[in-house]
Amino acid sequence: MYKHESLLKSNEAQQVVTVTKTSVSFAITSITICFIMLHFCPSQLRAQLGTTPNIKHIVVGRCYTYTTLVNPSLRYDCEEIWKQFEEAVISHSSCNVTVEDYFHMFNAMPQIWPCDNFLFWSKTRTLMHSYAAVFRHFWTLEDTLVGYMFNDLIWCGQEEDSGFDFSSCPEWSACRSHPVYSLWRQASQNFAEMACGNITILLNGSIVNAFNRKSMFGSVELDSLDPQRVNYVNIKVVTSLDGPHIESCSQGSIVDLIQIFQSRGFHWTCTDNDQTLMILQCIRNPQHSSCQTYANTLLNRNSLTSD
Ligand SMILES: *[C@@H]1O[C@H](CO)[C@@H](O)[C@H](O)[C@H]1NC(C)=O
Ligand SMILES: *[C@@H]1O[C@H](CO)[C@@H](O)[C@H](O)[C@H]1NC(C)=O
Ligand SMILES: *[C@@H]1O[C@H](CO)[C@@H](O)[C@H](O)[C@H]1NC(C)=O
Repeated sequence: MYKHESLLKSNEAQQVVTVTKTSVSFAITSITICFIMLHFCPSQLRAQLGTTPNIKHIVVGRCYTYTTLVNPSLRYDCEEIWKQFEEAVISHSSCNVTVEDYFHMFNAMPQIWPCDNFLFWSKTRTLMHSYAAVFRHFWTLEDTLVGYMFNDLIWCGQEEDSGFDFSSCPEWSACRSHPVYSLWRQASQNFAEMACGNITILLNGSIVNAFNRKSMFGSVELDSLDPQRVNYVNIKVVTSLDGPHIESCSQGSIVDLIQIFQSRGFHWTCTDNDQTLMILQCIRNPQHSSCQTYANTLLNRNSLTSD
């Protein structure tokens, strides 16, 4: 994987990855948010925007970046992937692209991920990035080719077979099968189905319904995880430094999540406010009162060991 390549290569790749990671997860977060709020605020998802300009150049370019710099061990036909994508989108009306319509595209981009270290998350985007940056072995959806290529893009067709609509795309709520949603749904499902070994789930204990059945995690990924392939589900519930402390391993929707894992025969652990996750938040906000405790603890430990 790119994380183990030569320094030069991986530095280049890392930069590319870091840049796109932010926007991929923005897209995914938007999807999650939109999904959670599907019935309340669909119009907020930049619904009036049309297909991202230059989408073909962006998608094909990212594909070449990924297959040349990020993960050069993999061979893909980027032009073919684009062809299958375009066909799925423009041969259907703008509100009628199902996950099945992307079947050929996904077939053109099979990807095997290494076991262990799959990272799922919901409503913890910023922290997830820091966490994945520290523990470089984690795999998130945005590290996959499809996640990398389509991150933060918008697309839809017009009338059947008349190309992309660059002036406006429908709202999510207006569609039974929104072209953007269908692609992410299938990508998320594939990702979760491949998950094996130990997996980690980062959830936000500062919100109600940290585990939300309507989120991409709750509606797609959870049901696609296979207890035969997954050794341990390690749930980490983290609250923001300023709180509020609403949910935890023993409180709120996370209890329901644990029950689901339990009943499906998964081995699981659940940790509240994992120390690494708290320290990562403190790095962004060292003056915070809860971080002083950490600072003191760490200092005391240091002086104890050096005495
Ligand atoms: C949606 O597409 C399917 C084929 O993929 C077609 O059978 C159906 O009539 C379409 N529905 C609408 C409302 O366009
Ligand atoms: C939890 O969610 C809130 C609201 O979306 C957000 O402001 C906060 O940063 C999140 N906390 C963490 C630890 O990700
Ligand atoms: C998997 O998770 C379990 C429970 O947290 C832990 O005991 C074990 O060491 C982990 N295994 C690997 C390979 O990380």
